[in-house]
Amino acid sequence: MRTMIVTGGTGAIGAAVVGRLAAEPVVDRIAVLTRAPSGARQQRLLQSWNAGDRVPVVFLHGKLPELVEAGATLRADLTHIVHLAADTRFSAAPEESRAANVCGTAAVLDYARTCPRLAAMTVASTVYVAGLRSGAIRERELEHGAGFANNYEASKHEMEVLVRAAMGDLPLSVCRLSTAIGEDGTGEVTSLNAFHTALRLMYGGLVPMIPGADDTPIDVISTGFAAQALRRLATEAFRPGETYHVCAGSDAPTLGAVLDAAMRTMRARRPAWRKRAIAMPVLADEPTYELFVRSVHESGDAMMAAATRAVESFARQLTRPKIFDTANAVGALGDAWHRPDSLGLCEDVVRYCVENEWKAAA
Ligand SMILES: NC(=O)c1ccc[n+]([C@@H]2O[C@H](COP(=O)([O-])OP(=O)(O)OC[C@H]3O[C@@H](n4cnc5c(N)ncnc54)[C@H](OP(=O)(O)O)[C@@H]3O)[C@@H](O)[C@H]2O)c1
Repeated sequence: MRTMIVTGGTGAIGAAVVGRLAAEPVVDRIAVLTRAPSGARQQRLLQSWNAGDRVPVVFLHGKLPELVEAGATLRADLTHIVHLAADTRFSAAPEESRAANVCGTAAVLDYARTCPRLAAMTVASTVYVAGLRSGAIRERELEHGAGFANNYEASKHEMEVLVRAAMGDLPLSVCRLSTAIGEDGTGEVTSLNAFHTALRLMYGGLVPMIPGADDTPIDVISTGFAAQALRRLATEAFRPGETYHVCAGSDAPTLGAVLDAAMRTMRARRPAWRKRAIAMPVLADEPTYELFVRSVHESGDAMMAAATRAVESFARQLTRPKIFDTANAVGALGDAWHRPDSLGLCEDVVRYCVENEWKAAA
C-alpha cells in the first residue's frame, strides 16, 4: 500500500495541500502528523478531507522529534513525505525557531532514511532564506552573508543547508513559498500573518511610516496557488535535487501599488472609516525608519510601540528589494503554473479582512 506522510497538514497552507492530495490517487492513504489530533479544527479538517470518494486521510499523533517512533508502523509502505510543519512565527526566540525548523527537519530526514520504499520527499521553505540580500535571487542559490530579518528566516536557511546535504542520499526537493495571503476570488483568509497584521494596524491608524520605496516588490501569492503548486511538485512533477520558487516573481506588485489598493479598498468598504481621514503611511529609507522606531519607543505611547514592534519583525525586508526567479518552478509545472494576479488578490484579501473585522475564517 503506497503511503504518504504530511507534516504540518493542519496549517494554513498544509490543510489546502492535503485537500488537493486527497483528491488525486497518487498514494493509497495519507497520514497527517499533528500534535493535537482531537482539536475542533483538526476534526473539521478530517471530515472535509474525507468527504466523497477520495484517498483516505488519518491523523498520526506526534511531534516532529518523535516522528521516528510515531511513524514506525508506516515505515515499510511509505513512498512520499511532504514536510510542511514549522514554527512560522517571525517573533519566536532563536531556540524555538531552531527546535521546530532545524531539529524537526533533521528528525524527518532521519525517519526518511529508515523507509525502504521512499520515492519522494518535498520540504516547504520560504523565499526569504535569501534573508537581507537584494536584487535577483535564483532558485539554486542558498549561501550568503547578508543576514536575516528574523529568526524564522535564519532557521529556514539552516534547514535548507541540512536538506541540501541530505540530497546525496535521499530523494529530496525544496519548495520555497512567498507569502500566501488568502484565497483566489474570495480573498478568504484562514490564518492571519505579517501581511494582514501590517494592514490591520494601518487600518487602525497605527502605521504612520513604513520602510521601503514606492517600487519595492511585494511578493504575495494565493493559498490555492501555493497548495496546488506544492501538490504537483511533490507528486507527478517531483524531481530529486531541485529547488523551486513558488511565488509571484517578476509579476510581484510594488509596495506603492499594494498600499494604494489597500487604502482604496478600505475607503470603499467602510465610509465611516473614510471620515477618520487616516493618511497613507509615509515610505522612508532605513535610517529614517530607525529614527522613527526609536522615537516611538521613547514616546511612552504603548499602543504605537506595540504596533511598531509588530512591524519590526519583517520591516527590514522592505528595504532590501528582491525579485525571485521562478524559471525552475515554471519549467517543472508547465501548463499547471496558473498564478493569479497578485494585486487583485491583495484587494480581495483587504476587502475580506475589513468585512470580517480582521478575523480569519474558522
Ligand atoms: N503561509 C505562508 O505564507 C508561507 C510562506 C512561506 C513558507 N511557508 C512554509 O510553508 C509551510 C506551511 O506553512 P503554514 O503557513 O501552513 O504554517 P502554519 O499555519 O503556521 O502551521 C504550522 C503547522 O506545523 C505544525 N507544527 C508546528 N510545530 C510542530 C512540531 N513541533 N511538530 C509537529 N508539527 C508541528 C502544526 O501542526 P499541529 O499544530 O497540528 O501540530 C501546523 O500544522 C511551513 O514550512 C512554512 O515555513 C509558508
